[in-house]
Amino acid sequence: MSQRHSDSNDKSDPLASRAAALTLLSGAVREGKAIDKRFQKIAGQLEPRDRAFVRHLVATTLRRLGQIDAVLKTFTTRAPPAQVEDILRLGTAQILFLETAPHAAVDTSVGLVKRVRQPRLTGLVNAVLRKVAATGQDIVADQNWPRLNTPGWLWDGWTKAYGETTAHRMGEAHLAAAPLDLTVKDPASSEKWAKDLEAELLPTGSLRHTASGMIQDLPGFAEGAWWVQDAAAAMPARILLQATATSTDSRVADLCSAPGGKTLQLAAAGRQVTSMDSSETRLTRVQENLDRMSLKAEIVHADMMRWTPPQLFNAVLLDAPCSATGTLRRHPDLGYLKKRRDVLAYPETQKALLKRAAEFLTPGGVLVYAVCSLEPEEGQGVVDAVLKDAGLSRQPIDPAPLGLDSNWIDSAGALRTLPYYWHHRGGLDGFYAAVLKKNG
Ligand SMILES: C[S@@+](CC[C@H](N)C(=O)[O-])C[C@H]1O[C@@H](n2cnc3c(N)ncnc32)[C@H](O)[C@@H]1O
Repeated sequence: MSQRHSDSNDKSDPLASRAAALTLLSGAVREGKAIDKRFQKIAGQLEPRDRAFVRHLVATTLRRLGQIDAVLKTFTTRAPPAQVEDILRLGTAQILFLETAPHAAVDTSVGLVKRVRQPRLTGLVNAVLRKVAATGQDIVADQNWPRLNTPGWLWDGWTKAYGETTAHRMGEAHLAAAPLDLTVKDPASSEKWAKDLEAELLPTGSLRHTASGMIQDLPGFAEGAWWVQDAAAAMPARILLQATATSTDSRVADLCSAPGGKTLQLAAAGRQVTSMDSSETRLTRVQENLDRMSLKAEIVHADMMRWTPPQLFNAVLLDAPCSATGTLRRHPDLGYLKKRRDVLAYPETQKALLKRAAEFLTPGGVLVYAVCSLEPEEGQGVVDAVLKDAGLSRQPIDPAPLGLDSNWIDSAGALRTLPYYWHHRGGLDGFYAAVLKKNG
């Protein structure tokens, strides 16, 4: 987890990189601004070498924020002004978790305090960070870090839904960044690509790549042999393909499809895909992805609540908009951007979308409902609420042919992955997927 950032390289600008990290951190925790979008805007102003450091520093600070705040609490009598508090957080992250030389972390933090025009607080920042450097590790050694680093609203929801032991394991898993998973266009060539990419071929068919480097430089990228997709995110489309394997109708509707990972899977499997999303911008990414992979699908820009298919479908995939708490390993800011009330707003929309999606099905047709959320209200809660009215019945998922662990199937036959599953392999995104069949 640690990354040494020596400031000896002439091209690196230590203060500029810390200032960028401060903008991202404060934006996330104080203004609810996602770090990915903001990073894209400011990355161009940074030296390439600093970019990776800024990302790593901000992500580590967010992943460890509970621990960092607990350490700082022992060395401060009252909370300093917001920007200075965030400077202390970044300084502490560097000293305790990134192995930045303490003098570099202290000096740049003091430099930042001057930059944000709080010169009277340079002495405080200097003194606090020196104490962190001297004894912070002793405090960290005794911390219950999975609990501390999980924002309270998530912890409360998870202990209620899964119990304290599972919530603890989920908190542990969120300390690590997600590995790079790939879906191979032609599953018959998976072993070849696993070898060429020095990747692990997972039981579900995805490849897990651990080496670092630019994705575009990896073998197979240019020729469109694979695309990036978390192993858990690849499961719903595989489940739908399995559930409709004997169907003579190859048409499938991928609803809420952008940026298109599941459309690619369905098209690569030879299905005739109608790929629908309400976001025109996001649909351009679906088309770009299809072009790169030399695949085809019918792209439909529409709000599915107002759209009527010219013909009913035998197979429908609904990957509904959700809180995305299952992707916390890739988005460590999520727990600070959202609150429980945001999560509670999703199920109403999801229920309406699921009801509407069920209307696109022929009698006997199959629908997979999926969300990348860990919150049961968005998964089984939505299915339970809609099932009867929508004329649907559950179809239990058969895990073995899909390479899924049987423990990942819940008592109602749906898939529920948690971030610590396959922890020895690097974990998984949290996903929920249920197979539903139209009655009649
Ligand atoms: C979870 S993302 C989908 C990810 C996608 N299935 C994939 O695998 O790449 C949810 C998508 O739902 C779309 N969406 C939200 N409400 C919609 C609606 N009423 N009709 C169609 N698309 C909608 C959003 O624009 C967003 O792209």
